[in-house]
Amino acid sequence: MCGIVGYVGVSSNPVEVVIEGLKQLEYRGYDSAGFAVLRNSKVELYKEVGRISNLEEKIKGIDFSDIEGIAIGHTRWATHGGITVPNTHPHISNNGKIVLVHNGVIENYADLKELLLRKGYTFYSQTDTEVIANLIEEHMKEGNSLEDAVILSVQELSGTFGVVLFYADEPDKIIAIRKGSPIVIGIGDNENIVASDINAIVKHTKNVVYLDDGEIAIVKVDGIKTISFSGKNIKKDVFVIDWEVEEMDKKGYPHYMLKEIFEQPTAIENCIRGRLLEDEGYVKLGGISKLEGIIHKVKKFTFIGCGTAYHAGMIGKYLMENIGWMPAEVDFASEFRYRNPIVSQRDVVVAISQSGETMDTLEALREAKRKGAITMGIINVVGSTIARETGMGIYIHAGVEIGVASTKAFTNMLVALVMLSVMVGRKKKLGIFEGREIVSSLKELPELVEYTLQKTNKVTQELAKKFSNYRNFIYLGRGYNYPVALEGALKLKEISYIHAEGYSAGEMKHGPIALIDENMPVVVIATKHSVYDKVVSNIQEVKARHGKVIAIVNENDTTVSKIADYTIEVPYVIEPLSPIINVIPLQLFAYYVASTKGLDVDKPRNLAKSVTVE
Ligand code: M6R
Repeated sequence: MCGIVGYVGVSSNPVEVVIEGLKQLEYRGYDSAGFAVLRNSKVELYKEVGRISNLEEKIKGIDFSDIEGIAIGHTRWATHGGITVPNTHPHISNNGKIVLVHNGVIENYADLKELLLRKGYTFYSQTDTEVIANLIEEHMKEGNSLEDAVILSVQELSGTFGVVLFYADEPDKIIAIRKGSPIVIGIGDNENIVASDINAIVKHTKNVVYLDDGEIAIVKVDGIKTISFSGKNIKKDVFVIDWEVEEMDKKGYPHYMLKEIFEQPTAIENCIRGRLLEDEGYVKLGGISKLEGIIHKVKKFTFIGCGTAYHAGMIGKYLMENIGWMPAEVDFASEFRYRNPIVSQRDVVVAISQSGETMDTLEALREAKRKGAITMGIINVVGSTIARETGMGIYIHAGVEIGVASTKAFTNMLVALVMLSVMVGRKKKLGIFEGREIVSSLKELPELVEYTLQKTNKVTQELAKKFSNYRNFIYLGRGYNYPVALEGALKLKEISYIHAEGYSAGEMKHGPIALIDENMPVVVIATKHSVYDKVVSNIQEVKARHGKVIAIVNENDTTVSKIADYTIEVPYVIEPLSPIINVIPLQLFAYYVASTKGLDVDKPRNLAKSVTVE
């Protein structure tokens, strides 16, 4: 997906800030990159298809020391028009003065283009973006100020847009516009940075302002003014990001994904810090104290999310039923928003998201709010749109997650869901001893996760070498570990491009068993919990049809080791926490398969880290 960076200030080199910022957004996926600067009141455009390194190659030797303190840049993921230099952003108005970058889609661009063509404008790209620059120029020609021309233009645009622009005759400001596509402004020292994602900002400042839909920011070196699409002044809060710059470094790991897998013990520690009340078998979740006060009125929880966050929600349903004694549902955010869900004012809808910007989850949340539900978030990125719109929630504090395949955010989502279920359960039927058992197991979790990483790292690497040439995999699990099977399969398919199906082990005999033969590897989660015996029977069914079984088992398991072809041993943990331990070898296995195949693990093809389009 596209990325935006804009700079206005006197402290840094604008080109360096923009290029560095765009590099921090590379993980989002893109196919061309460009930037615009201002020199002697003239806009200069630099664009190249392919990687940012191609763009850097192109500008090698160009002296930017005498440019003004302003620049905007963009990484484009082609939608309207092919991957060509003319289609690469920034785009400039016909008078050469208004230059802008855009994320999103202008749905009525064809009509606007027609109108502008009739007025004599020429278009040099096939994009939907170019119309915005010329529309603003047209409104300025009518005698409007830049600010008013922007306001008039946004009122005519339909679709989604995050836009950042500057005007050659007013070089003291950049203007940022948001409707549907995230825009965040970093408040620095004598400099301000606008971006589509805080990753591009965090190196310069931790103080950020998030634009909401329907807002425009006029960003100057000494301050920001925010107005609505109708021109009314808006006061904005400043959020402080809790990420460290060092987290953006690979720290010697070959890929961010592997680094993030190994960061899980620390991430979990950050998630539970100050939240566990061991003696009371209870938890302290400041962000949902309002919910705690009215929990006796709540009738049902519904978890919504996409991809890995949806899998966390599936486990949330099991946790809420077993620990929270509360009816619970789970749905893909993309289904929830269109299926007319039955939600009452006594229902809690929990939006789960790492980025806090996923469009489907955001829209599902808005639908839940329209229906009057109580809403909360389980979110990683502080101050993100979903976090702000839910009104209350639990931050998972996983730290920056850059690898497209989500790992540490998943396990931290599960930790947050366990804590939420304890809070709900202890207000209902969960006794103090059961509460204490869960809370003290949570406390020991970072150490146990570290142990699991050390124990499974080598064996998963060896198995990956053996299995990297297979074209299909089946993953099986039951109960709490059925969603873990889905997550294991998702990890493998998204980074290794191998077809992998996750299934409930009990469902196998109702269809997928037909796929089993000696060429089908079957990964089974078979740790010693409530459904262990059932899973053992399912493994027997696979073996009877000559499938190759790789089983995740507890240490000292003798039963499964006798029938499975390969086993990966993990330590025992109480059942509600077992997904957190059991998913670790599956993350490692997927990682090692993809890296054995020499694939771009952190930036798998066709995928983006945060999916801000429908
Ligand atoms: O940022 P979110 O948690 O809302 O993202 C949801 C999904 O797009 C995400 O989990 C996706 O499935 C990952 N690539 C999974 O590894």
